[in-house]
Amino acid sequence: MSRTRKPDVCQPTGSAELAMLDVYMPMMKSSAIISAGRLGLFEALVDGPLTAPALAEKIHSSLRGTATLVDFLVAIGYLEKDDDAFANTASTRRWFTSAGQVDYTPGLLWTHEAWAMMGSLAETVRKGEPEQTLWDAMVEKPHLGPLFSAYMGAFAADLGPDLLKHVPVSPDYRRLLDLGGSHGLHSIRFCRHYAQLAAVIVDMPSALTETGPEIDKAGLADRIRLSPGTLQDHDWGDDNDLVFYLSVAHNHSAAENRLAIRQIGESMNPGGLLVIHEYLAETSLDALNAAFRLTLLLETGTQTHRHEDYCEWLTAAGFSAIERIDLEPREKGSLILARR
Ligand SMILES: C[S@@+](CC[C@H](N)C(=O)[O-])C[C@H]1O[C@@H](n2cnc3c(N)ncnc32)[C@H](O)[C@@H]1O
Repeated sequence: MSRTRKPDVCQPTGSAELAMLDVYMPMMKSSAIISAGRLGLFEALVDGPLTAPALAEKIHSSLRGTATLVDFLVAIGYLEKDDDAFANTASTRRWFTSAGQVDYTPGLLWTHEAWAMMGSLAETVRKGEPEQTLWDAMVEKPHLGPLFSAYMGAFAADLGPDLLKHVPVSPDYRRLLDLGGSHGLHSIRFCRHYAQLAAVIVDMPSALTETGPEIDKAGLADRIRLSPGTLQDHDWGDDNDLVFYLSVAHNHSAAENRLAIRQIGESMNPGGLLVIHEYLAETSLDALNAAFRLTLLLETGTQTHRHEDYCEWLTAAGFSAIERIDLEPREKGSLILARR
């Protein structure tokens, strides 16, 4: 699908610089898109355009508020207006409704929570680590775990086809170990595709609240088992053929990853395959990677790691045939495959 560029609302329309646009407009843009997600506004337009009064009624909101919000969503390229009716743009339909390729609405609901956390960024920078990690916050506020897992599930829906394409599964493989498997969607996808596989998903209880029902819904309860707990306190068995360590390394320090990769190696059968998905720290960081590292500093006190670091940990753990696959678009991160 071709990409339509949305208006850059941080730029002034005249020639003089207006620095506050860089602060004010991203705030309003994020806030409006998140609010639309929370109100179910994009989903309300999934069956076709609506006038502002009809839309307001459908999302149980005031006409004045709805009309003011949709005007801004048109201005930033999220909605289109034709006569008196408002419609989702193709991109909004694709990314923020159930009719699209991937519905990232859970990302909007999560960002509503992350927004409040981001308020303590200055304090985190001063201290060099978070006052409270995301994992501790999830214990204190139990609604956070399912929200975060649902957001990770949207990423997984987007990444799934890339994984199936790039991960070679031998007919001899039987056991899949999905470390930090959260929503379970990667295990579900691979067990559906490869009838010989059975999976174990290890994650903290806060991440697994909706995973059992998802597995039941997929009809895979006899082949996918949940194993709640932390990676650090876990016995992963010793006959794993395929191990997923997908977007988990950035939640751990270098020392923790080195140890985990060694233990993964010890838990695998010869010829087995380890699959890592990550956002790799390059020598010069692009804005997204630098932003993600700031988020990690605040949420978990960790960071992204370099490709060289993974190679070192993998080689030390006895892995070989290390292969790096950069995904398209690059914002999707990279896969690292390594053979036991
Ligand atoms: C960024 S999410 C990735 C989820 C999933 N693997 C994916 O790719 O969509 C990281 C996951 O790792 C889990 N996790 C982080 N630290 C962990 C630990 N020490 N023990 C167990 N799970 C952990 C989190 O609960 C979360 O579900």
